Amino acid sequence: MRLRSTYAIAIVVAVHAGGTAAADKDGATLYQEKTCISCHGAEGRAPVLPVYPKLAGQNADYLYQQLQDIKSEARKNAMTAAMTGIMQNVNDDEMRIIADWLGSLQR
Ligand code: HEC
Repeated sequence: MRLRSTYAIAIVVAVHAGGTAAADKDGATLYQEKTCISCHGAEGRAPVLPVYPKLAGQNADYLYQQLQDIKSEARKNAMTAAMTGIMQNVNDDEMRIIADWLGSLQR
């Protein structure tokens, strides 16, 4: 019984994490929920490694295109490998919202 309810919770969490209804979430929320923050830091200003890019204040269309390219692997190298898996859980609408939010921040 105990095992079963734990299992049910795990499913609910998994469904929530992969949620498709993005339109009601803002860029800051998506940036956290999609775990971008774990590598690029708060507001894309404080990457966990010095070689990871800062994102705050970058051109929104450029950011959006990079997200598309990293997801599709049109942009693919040893560094993007860290991110490609995560992008499979980020749809076009979400990319647009996150890119617009990052682009709106002060550099
Ligand atoms: C596991 C670490 C990791 C996570 C999580 C991660 N990234 Fe990245 N990201 C990187 C690395 C490393 C690069 C640099 C790739 C390269 O050197 O080509 C990068 C590159 C980028 C770029 C291109 C920046 C540029 O200047 O060209 C954007 C935009 C970006 N990430 C946004 C995001 C967003 C949005 C998320 C969340 C959906 C995210 N990243 C999640 C590690 C990560």
